[in-house]
Amino acid sequence: MKITVIGAGKYGSTLTEKIARRGYADEVVMVDIVEGLPQGLALDMNQARPIEGYETPVVGTNDYGPTAGSDVVVVTAGKPRKPGMSRMDLINDNAKIVGGVAQEIAKTSPEAVVVVVSNPLDEMTALFQKVSGFPPHRVMGQAGMLDTARFQDKVAAAAGASPLSVEAITLGSHGDTMVPVPSKVTVDGKPLADVLDQDTIDEIVDATRNGGAEVVALLKEGSAYFAPASAAARMVEAIATDEGVLMPVCAWVDGQYGIAEVYLGVPVRLGAGGVTEIVDIDLTESELADLREAAEAVRAKQADVDGLV
Ligand code: NAI
Ligand code: 2OP
Repeated sequence: MKITVIGAGKYGSTLTEKIARRGYADEVVMVDIVEGLPQGLALDMNQARPIEGYETPVVGTNDYGPTAGSDVVVVTAGKPRKPGMSRMDLINDNAKIVGGVAQEIAKTSPEAVVVVVSNPLDEMTALFQKVSGFPPHRVMGQAGMLDTARFQDKVAAAAGASPLSVEAITLGSHGDTMVPVPSKVTVDGKPLADVLDQDTIDEIVDATRNGGAEVVALLKEGSAYFAPASAAARMVEAIATDEGVLMPVCAWVDGQYGIAEVYLGVPVRLGAGGVTEIVDIDLTESELADLREAAEAVRAKQADVDGLV
């Protein structure tokens, strides 16, 4: 099992280390355009292995040779946002970067399952699929796992509960039309409406939509990477071990939820081939309306992203 991470910045390097230490990969390859950066980080990570107790080697490289024949590829290459920027402000710069990466991966790892994380997420996922020509079930984006974890953490804090006791899901876009789904949240098995009042729930939904900007504003330079890397690592593990587990993923939707032909955050099953199924879960009428609104918001931008490469 060969796993490649493109981009050895904060997200890519944190993700690489998380994947390597789980032990299911034979090798993790990390690519960056900055000479010495992926090599130096790989050396550093490999030297942690005797202490941490795992064997998986990390290979750092500036070219795609060592990535050839990868089973799973994660694309983190691209600029992160600065305070005050929206994810959409990154679209022109990151489209060129992600488009170039898609061309390389199509040549060197034509059978790979690809997880895109570069922002703006929904548009970069659509762009990667178009440029690579890969079947849509083999190209997906990471957003919902992160947004769901933020939702769970904020519910847990408000309810005074363990974050592990909160079940939740977040759908829609990785942007203003994100759709946290309160009707599906439970705390220690109890419906959210029995645990928190409606005003608090509304505040948590807004705070979840704003979760990335909240971290950016505090950091002042760069964006979040610990929780984002955990989110992508969990997806990679589900694909690499053919788990078939249900996760919120930016996937190609074609008919489900009354939505056609758009990349959007929906519940899916992830396995060896990528997205093996899009799962219909019951939503309230207003949640479904929000999901359809999110689909229309991203559709127009996704339609012409390949013109930006
Ligand atoms: P960073 O600036 O720390 O790292 C980006 C890396 O990409 C740099 O090392 C840079 O040299 C490299 N790079 C640029 N062009 C490249 C190319 N053509 N090939 C290979 N590498 C290239 O940024 P960070 O924090 O790692 O974030 C990366 C991306 O992930 C950003 O676009 C950010 O907005 C996005 N992100 C997405 C999240 C999500 O939930 N989908 C969450 C957090 C970040
Ligand atoms: C995040 O949500 C910036 O997309 C990134 O943290």
